[in-house]
Amino acid sequence: MDKILNWGLLSTAKINQALIKPLRASKRTRLLGVASRSQSSAEAYASEWKIPRAYGSYEAMLADPEIDVIYNSLPNHLHAEWTIKALRAGKHVLCEKPLALSLTEVDAMIAASQETGKVLAEAFMYRHHPQTLKVKEIVDSGALGKLQVIKGAFSFVLDREGNYRNIKEMGGGSIWDVGCYPISYTRMILGEEPLEVFGWQSEGPGGIDESFYGQMRFGSGVHAQFDSGFKSHFRAHMEIVGTDGVLQIPSPFKPGLKNEILLIQKDEQQTLRIKGQELYLGEVEDMYEAVVHQKAPRISLADSRGNIAVILGLLNSAQTGRKITI
Ligand SMILES: NC(=O)c1ccc[n+]([C@@H]2O[C@H](COP(=O)([O-])OP(=O)(O)OC[C@H]3O[C@@H](n4cnc5c(N)ncnc54)[C@H](OP(=O)(O)O)[C@@H]3O)[C@@H](O)[C@H]2O)c1
Repeated sequence: MDKILNWGLLSTAKINQALIKPLRASKRTRLLGVASRSQSSAEAYASEWKIPRAYGSYEAMLADPEIDVIYNSLPNHLHAEWTIKALRAGKHVLCEKPLALSLTEVDAMIAASQETGKVLAEAFMYRHHPQTLKVKEIVDSGALGKLQVIKGAFSFVLDREGNYRNIKEMGGGSIWDVGCYPISYTRMILGEEPLEVFGWQSEGPGGIDESFYGQMRFGSGVHAQFDSGFKSHFRAHMEIVGTDGVLQIPSPFKPGLKNEILLIQKDEQQTLRIKGQELYLGEVEDMYEAVVHQKAPRISLADSRGNIAVILGLLNSAQTGRKITI
């Protein structure tokens, strides 16, 4: 019989709700606990979501020997600290994006994972979805010819006052929150890091980037552009352009059960229909394979580090007005 992995939710974050269903859908995982900064909040959450164990501190959940995997859904500035604590407590960790806010932090997380032998993976859920795998397959097949340009966007109107997304010290700002997706998508498609980047930002209260406009130049000759923001109407899309074709992905970051992408080649346009799956199931299954069957996680830590390096380069560029070499 397959081993069952016991999961614990580190906080009562809104995003937890996306993971609860896939954790319950798999017979190989069990949602065992939730930790919060107060016992009453942990108990209220556990009762609402029918989770067996409620811990009134994060430390208490890390001390439970029956918890195998921690889902770190804390605000961005706490990802590194609590992931390292969890790894050192002997837990495997699925940590929300972005893995960290500096290279020093991400390097310490990678070192903690290596030293403890525990799995650490970033929760970029879209990477595991069949649509993403299909897009990569089409591009790699050469159907678009030699790639020239990749464009992407992820924006929405942020109306949650007091939310950490508005607070710079907590890892707020649009590039950390949503700009990280088109950057990650572009790097995944190309399988390379940009040589240099350039960016502009519109500053919001407290110095966060409320909107970000970024460019990346790759050694293969491909140029990429994206924007992210908290002020523009919801948009999320990617476009991949080559000498022989164009692929348009209307829902690249939150694909669903039924998906359509558009392949344009010469005068022909084809709508490709892709059967999907529950969006957050892939990262749960990927963790299982990594922990129980020692398979490398689909998103390597080097890949997560690369995304952070690009974001830091873009933020540096927006502040200095210079192109930044990565
Ligand atoms: N992959 C995705 O689709 C996706 C979507 C949304 C968000 N995310 C990521 O998930 C993470 C959480 O986002 P979210 O919007 O779900 O967060 P959220 O609802 O604001 O919740 C964050 C939780 O962190 C805990 N916390 C600990 N210290 C805190 C502090 N100083 N201030 C505020 N909260 C604190 C709180 O839980 P307790 O009170 O219980 O301790 C709080 O409920 C972020 O890293 C974000 O990038 C990912």
